[in-house]
Amino acid sequence: MKIGLFYGSNTGNTEINAGLIKKELDKVDPNMCDIHNIGLVDVKKMEEYDYMIVGCPTWNVGELQDDWAIKFDSLNDLKLKGKKIAMFGVGDQFGYGDNFCDAVGILGYRFEARGAELVGFTDGRDYQYTNSAAVEEGVFLGLVLDDDNQNNLTDERIDYWVTDLLYEFGIKSA
Ligand SMILES: Cc1cc2nc3c(=O)[nH]c(=O)nc-3n(C[C@H](O)[C@H](O)[C@H](O)COP(=O)(O)O)c2cc1C
Repeated sequence: MKIGLFYGSNTGNTEINAGLIKKELDKVDPNMCDIHNIGLVDVKKMEEYDYMIVGCPTWNVGELQDDWAIKFDSLNDLKLKGKKIAMFGVGDQFGYGDNFCDAVGILGYRFEARGAELVGFTDGRDYQYTNSAAVEEGVFLGLVLDDDNQNNLTDERIDYWVTDLLYEFGIKSA
């Protein structure tokens, strides 16, 4: 099976994390994950995959990263029914604690509205923030990473998350 990993990144952190996620998946099967910079592909490419990972940092106080922002309206034309999408975000919980990783919620709810099922939720208790559009009842709608303050935790967070995703995507069974 194929997983499409789509990411956008302004200053490189999300790009690096997308690479780390792919590296974990490559350990299982080096042909499983195709990686795409959303700034360089048409959003329609997403319809080619039944399983996706989508990465977006939050910028400009609660806004999407630039490439996702430009393409946000065109996401309304996507047919995503039956597809599973795992979101990951990158943000700064101390600098922007009122909008921590908002982009995960903004994009995730849009994909859900197009018929996708969101998977890969994570516990919000490990973070210090006041508000986030990516949280529902204390649970993040995806993986959230904070390379500005907790870069030392990123590898481990990705490792755990990808391990869980393999089950949620049905690649591994219990
Ligand atoms: C001007 C500016 C605004 C930002 N706004 C937010 C925000 O609202 N929420 C958040 O969690 N992080 C925010 N950040 C932090 C970035 O998301 C973080 O640095 C991230 O790692 C950038 O990812 P990228 O390198 O992939 O673009 C902001 C950073 C800057 C410089």
